[in-house]
Amino acid sequence: MSVPRPNAHVHFGVFFQGVNHTTVWSDPASGSQIDFETFRHMISTAEKGLFDAFFLGEGLRLREQQGKILDLDIAGRPDAIAQLSALAGITSHIGLVATQNTTYNEPGDLARRLAGLDILSGGRAGWNAVTTDNAWTGENFRRGGFLDHELRYERAGQFIRTARAIWDGWSDDALATSSGAASWSTDDAVQHLSRSSSQFDVDIDSTLPRSAQGHPVIFQAGDSPTGRDFAAANADVIFSRHGTHFEEALTFANDIRARLRAAGRPDDDIKILPGTQIVLAENAAEVEEKERWVREGQFTGQTALSLVGLVWGRDLSDLDPDGPLPADDPVPAPISVTRGAFRDGKDPIQLAREWRALAEAKNLSLREVAIETSQRSGFAGTPGQVADELTKWVREGATDGFNISPYIVPGGLDEIVEWLVPELQERGAYRTEYTSDTLRGHLGLREPLTRRKSGETDISAAG
Ligand SMILES: Cc1cc2nc3c(=O)[nH]c(=O)nc-3n(C[C@H](O)[C@H](O)[C@H](O)COP(=O)(O)O)c2cc1C
Repeated sequence: MSVPRPNAHVHFGVFFQGVNHTTVWSDPASGSQIDFETFRHMISTAEKGLFDAFFLGEGLRLREQQGKILDLDIAGRPDAIAQLSALAGITSHIGLVATQNTTYNEPGDLARRLAGLDILSGGRAGWNAVTTDNAWTGENFRRGGFLDHELRYERAGQFIRTARAIWDGWSDDALATSSGAASWSTDDAVQHLSRSSSQFDVDIDSTLPRSAQGHPVIFQAGDSPTGRDFAAANADVIFSRHGTHFEEALTFANDIRARLRAAGRPDDDIKILPGTQIVLAENAAEVEEKERWVREGQFTGQTALSLVGLVWGRDLSDLDPDGPLPADDPVPAPISVTRGAFRDGKDPIQLAREWRALAEAKNLSLREVAIETSQRSGFAGTPGQVADELTKWVREGATDGFNISPYIVPGGLDEIVEWLVPELQERGAYRTEYTSDTLRGHLGLREPLTRRKSGETDISAAG
């Protein structure tokens, strides 16, 4: 059931993936994936387009396949907080969101680093708190002490509550306002924090005052029922993966609204921004051609061999990607998505049979099967068509906006800002100027959860 919001605006973020093969890096129009100039170009374009946020994913380990690094993936991006701190200095309004996991960090350290970014940027920081789903990454942290799903979320909840308590350690009026004051901060400005829980022991006098937006905005990305409840209890924004099919996005949003009510929060207290891709062109024929170009850039012959090789459980690099799928059945390798498998939960032999049937029915090559069976992500159309569609999504309550992953770097946002933003503005569905200086303000969020007056969900007390 849709939730009408006739005057709602579309919010945009730009999503820079941590590790991926969907950014077309092999095209001549593609620039460096790591030069500062690339990030400068992207964030300046996004700020010109009045985006809410520049958002970085996190990948702490290069993906491998059967012991070989997956060198077709984009990887090797700089640490998010380092990158965003540099970008804070050349921007004035756009939010700066870092994905940082709660499994391998410690709250005393991470809360301080994020608060630093928030203060230096004038209240523009966001934290995408993820649990990170793989033991493979875990081998390099906690002395290999990976946690299972339930414990990861238990730790994540304790982590966020502890981080908030650290951020709340300074009162809003903690800093002396006159140069004649006897000391830099007011009396009792800093509350000592001492707490023990199953995952953390902290004994801290928080080192940093509050920022212009109180503390960093909390994003969450994790789709399991536990992950959704974790968001309903803690998050300001959900970065979802439901950004392609309207009904699916609406079902997800209604589920989150119900979980918010159950958690004692208003059901519009979380903004939902799915990751998505947008392909724009001037007419139907050009849209189709451009979509094909993007897909072919994302699925080069080598990438297709590598992805199909995961299903077959062996190296297929000696095959011709424009030839048929392997004739023999897969011998499933004992790897999960945490070890680089890309289709978790499906029986590879069954999948291979389905793919062969598809290839036969449509006369498809191995590469074409890889393209055909990967989920199409996002929107494609003329700027007017896409503007209508995005406006519908937001005004019927399926999302609050979109976290756009440009398929080409650094120029992929240019046409979105030049063509799509004006179309949305014409529909009254997009801001025409920034009306706030903070990320919390751009997103139209209420006060941080722990700062609400009566009737608030008191999340500061527990563990
Ligand atoms: C849209 C989306 C984006 C994510 N981005 C990252 C990321 O950049 N880095 C990361 O370590 N995990 C990322 N995750 C994974 C989460 O850390 C989480 O561990 C995983 O989804 C398992 O939680 P779940 O079972 O609740 O889905 C992402 C998850 C989603 C749904």
